[in-house]
Formats: sequence, C-alpha cells, structure tokens
Amino acid sequence: MTTTCFTRPAFTSRVVPVIVLTDPAHAVPLAHALLEGGIDVMEITLRSDAALASIEAVAKAVPQMHTGAGTVTRVAEVQRVIDAGATFALSPGCTDALVEAVKGAKLPFIPGVMTPGEVMHRREQGFSLMKLFPAQQAGGMGMLKALGAPIPDVKFCPTGGVSPDNLKDFLKLPNVAMAGGSWLTPADALARGDWALITRLAREATALANAF
Ligand code: 3PG
Repeated sequence: MTTTCFTRPAFTSRVVPVIVLTDPAHAVPLAHALLEGGIDVMEITLRSDAALASIEAVAKAVPQMHTGAGTVTRVAEVQRVIDAGATFALSPGCTDALVEAVKGAKLPFIPGVMTPGEVMHRREQGFSLMKLFPAQQAGGMGMLKALGAPIPDVKFCPTGGVSPDNLKDFLKLPNVAMAGGSWLTPADALARGDWALITRLAREATALANAF
C-alpha cells in the first residue's frame, strides 16, 4: 500500500461535523463551540456562498481547528479552498482529474467512494482513507464489513445517515477511522447562534467516540 502525505489529514477527532454555513460570521464562534466539545475538525461544505469566507475566517482566527473543505467536486475548487486556508478537503465522489489537482497542490484529501471498484481505484492512486458516501444508502455497516474482508488496508469515514444512535457502532468497525454527519450543526441552531447546544452535541459525540 502506498501511504503519502495527501492521504490523511492531521486532526484527532473521530467525529467530523459536516457543516453548511450561510453566514461567515457564524464560522468562528462555531469553531470555538466545537473545540469546547472536543472536536478539532470542521468539514465546511462548498454548498453556500458563505463557504469560502467561512473557511478563511476559521483558518485565520482558530489555528488549532483543522479546517477542511467539503463537497469539493470540481478541479477549479481545489486552489480556491487552499487560498481560503483549508488544510484538507473531502469529496462526495471522486474523479481522476480531482486526484491530479489535489496531488499537484499537495492538499490532504479524503476521496468519496461508494463501490469496491472505486475503493480499489483510489487505493491504486495512493489513498488509504476514503469517505464512504452516502454511507447508509451504500449499505451502511454491512457494506463496511463487506469491504473490510477483501480490502482490509483501507479505512473509511462513513458519512450520510450517521447519527448519535449509530455512531458508536460505526466507530467500532475496524475499518472505520472516523464518521461524519450534519447532526452536530443543525441549521436552526446556527441561525440563532446557539453555540451552547452545538458544544453539547459535540461533547455527546466525543463521549460516544471515546467510550471504547
Ligand atoms: C452530506 O453530505 O450532507 C452528509 O453526508 C451529511 O449527511 P447527514 O445529514 O445524513 O449527516
């Protein structure tokens, strides 16, 4: 297996909040709320006009946060997220062109996969950590167990359908490095600036992740 610098970002949390920010002013207080709850990583998705400014705000003001760009689906976005200050990126799926771009830019990257063939393809390109997306629709824990038998050297970040109810079971699987989800940053809590709620959700998730 090839393990290279672009395969694995440096954050320690086993829970990755998948975040849609509509106001860049929310980014820094959100980063502090997550850190307070034990989470040192953010996947700020490129799904709103506020995404790049939000990445930039966190990267500048909260250096201890690992600021990742999510929903990176186009080659042109790679340089934009680097310029904003993202230290890694994730994608829901992947193309060879995207791999070429992140490798060229030396940006740590977690490519999205959904099938054994995609996993093998990305492994050939040097990746050993991948995002299983959408995880539940792909077969959830059954799919991860099935992938683990023939391809035990690849670890996954399942995302899509992960919740506090199943987080622990996902994280117990030997080929699950971490799990991602949107439940940690509900849109209504972001809109009203309810950072205490987000810290509580982060603490609960951290406790589940550290429970074994
Ligand atoms: C997404 O890209 O929206 C993530 O997969 C989040 O999925 P979730 O809302 O089921 O956590």
